[in-house]
This record gives sequence, C-alpha cells and structure tokens, in this order.
Amino acid sequence: MEKKFKRHLITAALPYANGSVHIGHLAGVYVPADIYVRYLRLKGEDVLFICGSDEHGVPITFKAKDLGCSPQEIVDKYHAIIKDSFNRFGISFSIYSRTSSKIHSETAAEFFKKLYDEGKFIEKESEQYFDPAAQVFLADRYIMGTCPKCGNDKAYGDQCEKCGSTLSPDELIDPHSRLSGEKPVKKLTKHWYLPLDKYENWLKEWIIDGHKEWKTNVYGQCKSWIDGGLKPRAVTRDLDWGVPVPLEDAKGKVLYVWFDAPIGYISNTKELLPNEWEKWWKSPDTRMIHFIGKDNIVFHCIVFPSMLKAYGDGYILPENVPANEFLNLEGDKISTSRNWAIWLEEYLDQFPGQQDVMRYVLCANAPETKDNDFTWKDFQARNNSELVAIYGNFVNRALVLTNKYFGGKVPGYTQDQLTEEDKQLVKSIPEITAAIQNCLDHFKFRDAIKEAMNLARLGNKYLTDTEPWKVFKTDPQRVAVILNLCLQICANLSIAFEPFCPFSSKRLQVMLNLAPKKDDICPVSAPEGKIRWENLGSIDFLKEGDQIGTPELLFSKIEDETIQAQTDRLARIKKENEEKAALEAASHPQPQKPECTFEEFEKMDIRTATVLEAEAVPKTDKLLKLTIDTGIDQRVIVSGIAEYYKPEDMIGKQICILANLKPRKIRGIESNGMILMAKDNSGKMRFITPQEVMVNGATVG
Ligand code: MF3
Ligand code: ZN
Repeated sequence: MEKKFKRHLITAALPYANGSVHIGHLAGVYVPADIYVRYLRLKGEDVLFICGSDEHGVPITFKAKDLGCSPQEIVDKYHAIIKDSFNRFGISFSIYSRTSSKIHSETAAEFFKKLYDEGKFIEKESEQYFDPAAQVFLADRYIMGTCPKCGNDKAYGDQCEKCGSTLSPDELIDPHSRLSGEKPVKKLTKHWYLPLDKYENWLKEWIIDGHKEWKTNVYGQCKSWIDGGLKPRAVTRDLDWGVPVPLEDAKGKVLYVWFDAPIGYISNTKELLPNEWEKWWKSPDTRMIHFIGKDNIVFHCIVFPSMLKAYGDGYILPENVPANEFLNLEGDKISTSRNWAIWLEEYLDQFPGQQDVMRYVLCANAPETKDNDFTWKDFQARNNSELVAIYGNFVNRALVLTNKYFGGKVPGYTQDQLTEEDKQLVKSIPEITAAIQNCLDHFKFRDAIKEAMNLARLGNKYLTDTEPWKVFKTDPQRVAVILNLCLQICANLSIAFEPFCPFSSKRLQVMLNLAPKKDDICPVSAPEGKIRWENLGSIDFLKEGDQIGTPELLFSKIEDETIQAQTDRLARIKKENEEKAALEAASHPQPQKPECTFEEFEKMDIRTATVLEAEAVPKTDKLLKLTIDTGIDQRVIVSGIAEYYKPEDMIGKQICILANLKPRKIRGIESNGMILMAKDNSGKMRFITPQEVMVNGATVG
C-alpha cells in the first residue's frame, strides 16, 4: 500500500541569478514541476510550490567584476527578470523568493551553527591558493593559466573550456590570479567539512534499498556515487560573497553556495508561512518532491539529505527526485556564453499569448529519459498539426455548431437516444483520463500530454464520423446528442490540459461558462466549481439549457515566415560563433617543434616555381593537380588546396615548393614535390610567394 500523505511540498531548483532563464531550464525543471503542482491542486491536495533565485556562488562575483558593478546589483537585475519570465509563463509558484534575503542568511547560518555546535563537521586546515596583491584566497575558478593538455592560455583552475579537461590549479602552467594578475601563493586556511562518508551506510539503505522506484537516471547516478565511496565535502569557502560563516574565527569566510542554496527551500517556505512552515518540513505527513536537472542530482539526493539527516529535529527527506536530462537546441548543446538558447523573455515578446505552445512542445518533447532536441520545425509542426488541427479544431467545431444550431444553449438528450457509437465514446473518455492520471502519478509527463491529445483526437474523430452538419435538417435530436457529448468532452479537455496548457484551458472554461473570467493565470489554490480532477471522465459538466459563450480560437497557425525568422536568428548566432572561434583558434599558433640541425634543414630543396596549368582532381573536394615550372623541369604536383583556391586562381602564380620530396601517388596521379603553404590553427591556408617575382628555381633558405 502506498503511503497517504496530507500535503505535498514541491520544490524546483533555484536558478542562479547571473543570467536569464531559457527553454532548457523550462523543459528540464519548471514546466514539469508546474504540471505536477497544477495536477495536485486540481485534485484538491494541499500543495506548496517553492522556488527562488540562487544568488550566491563564484560565477556571480565574476559577472559583477566583468561588468564593473556589485554582485548585489547583478542578482537584483536577474532576479527581477527571472521572476517575471516565470510568472508570464504561468509557472505557479507559491513563492519565488531569493537567497540574498535576510531570512535566508539567518536560516542558513542557524543551520550551520547547529551542526557545528553538535560536532557534525570536521575542521581541517589545508593549503589553498592566495592572491598576495588582492589579499584574498582564490577559488579554483579565480586562477587562470595555460592548459597542460591543449595549450589554451585561458584555462581555469578547475577546468579547461577549450579541451574540456578537468584540472586542478596545480596543473596549470604559469598560473595567475584573475583578480590581480599576480602569481598565486599557497597559504594555510581552515574550513569545515561535512563527512559524507559517515552517511554512506544510511544513504545506501535509504536510496539503494529504499527508493528503487526512482527514475533510472537518478537512481543510477546515486548508486555510482555511493559505490564510488563518499568523501568529506567542504561546506565553507574563502570568499566575500555569500552567507558569512557564523563563527568567531571565520573572518572572510562564507558558506559554500551548495550548502546555503538548498536551505533556500526552507527559508522561502518560512518567508511564506512564518507560523506554519515547520508543519511542511518536519511532519512525516508531508511528501517532498524535488524537481531538478541532472547536474543537480548529487546535491539533492546525497548532500542535502545528509545535511537534513545531520540536523535531525524531524526534518523530512524527499520522497522522489524526478530529475530530467538536458534539452539541446537544433542539435547543439544550449550555451549561455555562446548565446545558443531561446531566452524566455525573448520568446514572450516575440510570441505574445503563446505560452501554451511552448509549454506544450517542451512537455511533448521533454528530456525525461535522455537528452532531447528542440527544433523550430518541430515547434511549428506540433502547434499546427496537434494544437491547432486536433485540440483547437475540435473545440471550435463543437462550440460553433452549438451556437449555430442551438443558439449557444447546451442541447439535451435521453439515455435511450444514445447509439452504440455514442456509448463507445462515453466509455472511452474515462479510459483516457485514467491513463493521463496514471502517467502524471509516475512523472511521465510526455506520455500524459500524449494521452490528453488523444482525448481531443477522440472528439475530433467522433465529430467527423457523425457529421452533424449533414444530419441537422432531417434529425435535429441526433445532433443534440452529438453536440452535448462533444461539449462534455470539451469540458474534460479543459481539465485534462490544465496542468500543461493552463492559459488555453482557462479560456476554454470561460467559453463553456464553467469558470468565471479572471486574469489570474497562476492560481495557487484549488479551483472552484466543477473544474476538479475528480470530475474528469464524466459527461455531466454541462446541463441541458446551460448557456455557453462565444467561441474564440484556442490556437492559431504558425506561419513558415515566423519559423524562418527564428532559424535565421540561430543561423546568424552560429555564424558569429564560428567566426569568433576561428579567430580565437587562428590567434593561437602551434607550439614550436623540436629542434632540428642546420644540416637537416639544408637537405630540403626549397625553390621558386610558377604554376603553368591547374585543374581539379575529379571526384575530390580538396585536391588540385598543378603543372609547374621549377626552373629545371616541368612537373606535376597534387596539392590539397582546392578549398582555398580555384584552378584559375593558381595559373600564372609564382609559389614556393619543396622540390626533393619523395614522389608519391595521390589518387592515381604521381605528385613530385609539395607546395609550401602557411596554415593557421583554424585551418585557413595561403600559398607562399616571393615578395617580388624572381626567376623560377631560385633557392629558398
Ligand atoms: N542554482 C543551481 C543550478 O542552477 C541549483 C540550486 S538548487 C538548490 O544548478 F537546491 F540548491 F537550491
Ligand atoms: Zn585544454
């Protein structure tokens, strides 16, 4: 028997307030969380939906430094943008607060202090890098140098973003501080560690034995962390941005961002319900669910639960952590630094009133079990051939016909008037809605939304099969039955789709006169009237004689030009990025080759020569066959320069060649030497030519 809980505490990962949010965030965390919360509210459950901005951490201090402002100014700016985007998208948080609030730093500090007082931490001194000019300790990210693996001179102390290697500051060649440019020195510093190793057995029991029902991607990650052996983790940092460590001898130290941020869930609940928050956090009747992305799994399944366990005092643990994988954009990883993203505020401005379309597409295509790809083509197709052609079309036909034939009054019928076809339909409705519910209960939102669309499909097909527009003249009572049932399906759809597409559901409910017209798209309480999940599947939402409103289209077709504008924008960004990368690459010359002797160099016969004839080598993209005059003979050289030069560009040009290279066959043609080319790291090539035309065969050296 599944345990029955009295209330549901739903959290969504606190986004970092150092940039806007994009569709990847939405698809991975906030849309699924909002779907689930709306579903629970429709069921009349007691729900809290907690989120807020994560305003600490090193990257925020960087952004501030780069822009010449304070970290507080950065988080103020992005907190406002993020909060507004979520609200406009209908993400119905009970509270969206922030970790720079007073109540948060007090809560986090108290949490630390209790663990400290009870001896739950290990105190350890270690050598850390210190900037002697700026007089501060340096986080790994604050140290830059040359990557030992690829030679990138802008590698960070924790990672080289060029070759992707994980690094430690000790491995960097020529390390220097990002703050002062000085060479960092090592200095002793004290930090506090949470000994995760001590929680290993408990975690094994709790997760590995106790939560086999978690999603396989989540369970698998937890298992491999635990099996790999856990180590103590520092929960403090030498940094001047964050929650100060509440100890006498901890000047200049703050709580590590991953220690304070999850406590944000607690402090935000406290802020919302100062007198009742403990009931939400410390009662076994509360069911806590964390919605997160896959990069957050270890913190939510291992670190934060260990913190809560260490604190004790009745704190509950998550019942489930339905983490998602990542969403890609048009085949490429979403990247803030490369601007490869669709930003929420941009979408909202460019597609006004079309939040549901994006919500629908992101759910239908959610990265639930593996990374997934968003494409504008798919976005358009799902809108035009699903939302418009199935759901929207069905609802519109049902409402328009009711207005046309019955003046907008719901027509009635008696049981004996139902045909076999009608009975079959009436039976199918609760089957589909039960399937939706089952999917939602198991966090299978993609499948759930597919089932919801199947309900619309069912209605659409029924209407097409029964053709009331042909029947009305001869048998108006038959049409009354058909339209009554269609309107009942519309009511079902407005509930079934509410978790996914709340804006259009609300409009549909208003059109059906099932809900009052209110602007509130983020209702945080249970809905009123008949709009309840428990009524789903039934066919008595509307009574005979009820008046319905005027139909408006729920969705509208998205034209090719609109999509083209978006793909053009992405193509522009891609081109800019490629140009930037090529420039970057070009400005990084190859390291010097090992020494060679003068005698070795002297062996090479390098000389001037002139191209007499040039032609492309058939069936290749890269090769040109060149006939050249070397001063001593005429010969053929095959050269891989066709990407850069057309045959006609080469004819008559004086070049330099390596004449005594051992001949070799290339594509069946004997090549007698090599054209000298200058080549940069981006692959760009140009031939070498004497500064003034000389005789052919002049030696180069
Ligand atoms: N800011 C983190 C991220 O975006 C998530 C923090 S979740 C919390 O990856 F639990 F720490 F709040
Ligand atoms: Zn590298």
